[in-house]
Amino acid sequence: MKCKFPKNFLWGGAVSANQVEGAWKEGNKGLSIADVLTAASSTTQRLITDGVVEDEYYPSHDAIDFYHKYKDDIKLFKKLGLKAFRTSISWARIFPNGDDISPNEEGLKFYDDLFDELIANDIEPIITLSHFEIPYNIHKKYGGFKNKKVIDLFVNFAEVVLERYKSKVKYWLTFNEINNQADGEHSLHTWTNSAVLINEGENKEQVIYQSSVNELIASAKVVLIAREINPSFIMGGMVAYVPVYPNQPNPNDILASIKVMNRRYFYSDVHVRGEIPRYMTAYWNSRNISIDISKTESHILRQGTVDYLGISYYMSKVVTTSKCEGQPVANLDGATFVENKYLKSNDWGWQIDPKGLRIVLNEVYQRYNLPIFIVENGCGSYDILENGNKIHDFYRIQYFADHIKEVSKAIKYDGVDVIGYTLWGIIDLVSFGSGEMEKRYGVIFVDRDNQGVGTLRRYKKDSFYWYKDVIQKNGIEVLNE
Ligand code: BG6
Repeated sequence: MKCKFPKNFLWGGAVSANQVEGAWKEGNKGLSIADVLTAASSTTQRLITDGVVEDEYYPSHDAIDFYHKYKDDIKLFKKLGLKAFRTSISWARIFPNGDDISPNEEGLKFYDDLFDELIANDIEPIITLSHFEIPYNIHKKYGGFKNKKVIDLFVNFAEVVLERYKSKVKYWLTFNEINNQADGEHSLHTWTNSAVLINEGENKEQVIYQSSVNELIASAKVVLIAREINPSFIMGGMVAYVPVYPNQPNPNDILASIKVMNRRYFYSDVHVRGEIPRYMTAYWNSRNISIDISKTESHILRQGTVDYLGISYYMSKVVTTSKCEGQPVANLDGATFVENKYLKSNDWGWQIDPKGLRIVLNEVYQRYNLPIFIVENGCGSYDILENGNKIHDFYRIQYFADHIKEVSKAIKYDGVDVIGYTLWGIIDLVSFGSGEMEKRYGVIFVDRDNQGVGTLRRYKKDSFYWYKDVIQKNGIEVLNE
């Protein structure tokens, strides 16, 4: 039996600028927030330093040197048969300080060349405007997206690149995983992924939600401008979906799973429906959070809705209210995550759940009835380079096969409109969460370790040949249903 995919399905691979490019000071690039994040591990957290500190190791400074090697890498992508390649534009390459008067031509030229190379190789660029790499100055001077001025700075950057690449790029995503950029759970110490500074004494939740709303407004403004620049642009929003299952059929657990999912749906609800949902305003009221949003901004949210939804999918989670001692869950107080005993985890504790992807696709599609693009899916694993050039990554093949089969079932049996699949970290890159190189995602191995040692040579893993076959056949063979 075969899992078939729609004609023109966008099989691809995804990365982000800060996790692959390196060349952190070249071409007049400014410092980005990713450039002040040190390396960590599965058990330690990345540190954020105040500027670049001598003797600290910052893995994104060189990353995998895609900035210089992209032509050879694209040759490999071509051999792999990729139809699409997702990356981001580093804002600090275009506006080194984020608020400069005019853009940096060298930065613009770099992406011109990169997109030309992709197009010459029949690979569709899928471009994210903001992927956790905001200029450092925006953080220092403005406190990140909690400051309304940053909305216009971002929109200005977006306008410049949308205009410049209007005949080269069709698919855009405004913010990578907009829910994680300002999500409390994912904040790095006093920062969020979008450089939002939380000062001591400030109400963290208030700051985070204000920043989220500001980002959603920025996204909607960009969508509106994009439509004027090129009406055939396909503009997407992106959310990281982690289905959260109730631990027990206990109604408290079920309610908790709904409430925790609402924290994610909030972002896609605004992207797609253009309105702040009532469950969110009710939540804010219950927490004494007051959000500054003008009538004009609400209008912009209503107008600037997206054409498709990009999703990332890595894992599922389980929520329990057992610690709430029988009290009904009001605002998730006391609800905690526990391990799902039906699932295995990778070495970083991420629970592997292929069926969860089908669940997400069903829920999201039924909610919005919009095309879905799976723009990230993958599993960090340790690889071993054997005999100098072989990587037998059967575990990665298994992971992708299991997930891709579920995508196929969602299309075939559930009627979900999935337009593409760009697997995360098509080529090994710097992990955003831990800064490790050895948390590998790619079907292409890059010889570089957690300390930054290695030749940077690329090697095809067994999964490279497997994925090539999947793309060529536009589907996969299913041995056991
Ligand atoms: C997503 C991000 O959340 O997860 C990527 O968009 C990130 O930037 C990916 O790399 C995997 O996470 P990690 O922490 O393993 O790199």
